[in-house]
Amino acid sequence: MKKNIRYTLIAFTTIFLGIQLIPVDRHNPPVVSDFEGPLEIKTLLKRSCYDCHSNEVNWPWYSYVAPVSWLVVHDVKEGREELNFSEWNKYSGDSEMKDEIIEEIAEGEMPLPIYLVTHRDASVSEQELLVLKQWSGYSAHSHKKDHGDED
Ligand code: HEC
Repeated sequence: MKKNIRYTLIAFTTIFLGIQLIPVDRHNPPVVSDFEGPLEIKTLLKRSCYDCHSNEVNWPWYSYVAPVSWLVVHDVKEGREELNFSEWNKYSGDSEMKDEIIEEIAEGEMPLPIYLVTHRDASVSEQELLVLKQWSGYSAHSHKKDHGDED
């Protein structure tokens, strides 16, 4: 019985050390065209979004420890595919992306809740959301068709 426990521990340790050897793509490609906008907005996005939506990711210590590192790298990869503030020219003249940013935050989808566990200061306040809406010229009416024209 005791022997079994020892073998199990050895097996887990071996696997844990073994998976550390699997290469993880944790690099930051060059910034192509950084987000341009008011300083207040940029500071907010840098604080709350850049760790997954830019080529300027601050890789936390746990992003160096498998298997957590795989999750972090996966989120960054998917995040960059959806929206990369380091390739902002892709979306210029495109107010749709601005609206999407507002919606994701308003719905509590972004920043990813799991990220807030280790980055509490990344959460976006109601006040900040209002500032973002002003910046984007967010057109609430176009998203509230169901309510008719009563106001
Ligand atoms: C911890 C990583 C992480 C952080 C931080 C983060 N995101 Fe994301 N974001 C993702 C991932 C992963 C996806 C793609 C999967 C999904 O939609 O859930 C995504 C998707 C998106 C999308 C596209 C949504 C869609 O479904 O089309 C937008 C817009 C977005 N994020 C905006 C933001 C904004 C704005 C912030 C900062 C306030 C932010 N994100 C912070 C990881 C992150």
